[in-house]
Amino acid sequence: MASQDVSRANAAAQIELHRALAPRYAYRYSFPFSRRFQQEWHAEMIRHAPRDARRLLDIGCGTGFFLAELEQERPRGDGPGEGLGAVGLDISHEMLQVSEQYVPDARLVTADAERMPFQGAIFDTVFCKGSLHHMRNHLGFLESCRGVLAEDGLLVMSEPCNDNPLIRLARAILYRKSPHFDVGDQGFTRRGIVEVTEQAGMEVLKTKKFGVLAYVFAGFPDHLGLLRFLPGSDLITRAFIGFDRFLCAIPGLSLLGFHIVVVARPRRG
Ligand SMILES: C[S@@+](CC[C@H](N)C(=O)[O-])C[C@H]1O[C@@H](n2cnc3c(N)ncnc32)[C@H](O)[C@@H]1O
Repeated sequence: MASQDVSRANAAAQIELHRALAPRYAYRYSFPFSRRFQQEWHAEMIRHAPRDARRLLDIGCGTGFFLAELEQERPRGDGPGEGLGAVGLDISHEMLQVSEQYVPDARLVTADAERMPFQGAIFDTVFCKGSLHHMRNHLGFLESCRGVLAEDGLLVMSEPCNDNPLIRLARAILYRKSPHFDVGDQGFTRRGIVEVTEQAGMEVLKTKKFGVLAYVFAGFPDHLGLLRFLPGSDLITRAFIGFDRFLCAIPGLSLLGFHIVVVARPRRG
């Protein structure tokens, strides 16, 4: 199949997949301990965006939790283009419908990120949390991200990391067997995601592993619900978050991280 056909077929599959997942995401983020973990994840991403960045795009914004925090952390300004505030793009109308409860004023766009509907370098920061691995043309998508970024703009992504062979194996089984993934979804090695980002004309400024115990136990209460039944689930999540920060800061131990955060900017000159 030609690569355009692959992307179109995948778009249809992702729409179907996330139609069914939208209520599940609302349930997943309904627990205080799970929101605590998501907030830690969002803070890890937002802190890379320059303080004065106001034109923000969240690609694959899903049910809008991150978007709501972006609106709060970086309220829309009154400079050129800053009235836009945080913009959320997602291929799934059902996911976006859930997000309207949390961010009623956000600008939401239903579109396939592999065919980006924006023109010109109009964003200061583009975020992509857990959506690149659902796409098929990674290079094309990253080139489009570069195209919509201002000259000094930043791309901040967080994607499933497969550097650890055990995590790679577990993920391969999950993506194949679980109805919550498409068989073509795939995680990245650090090397792989850096290479494709650089091929797209960007300079990678930083990579960082993220999420070990808190990711597993607090990230998906709809799959692994242990913390739902334990007293002190919020406290346990805080402890896991602190421990994960420690693990991910140590070079050998960071192999335990389930995600990788990548910060990149358009290559200059
Ligand atoms: C794993 S979810 C992450 C959602 C959200 N970022 C979060 O952290 O809760 C992936 C999201 O990417 C969206 N998505 C998948 N393929 C897409 C595409 N080609 N274009 C735009 N969005 C896409 C899905 O609809 C879904 O909302």
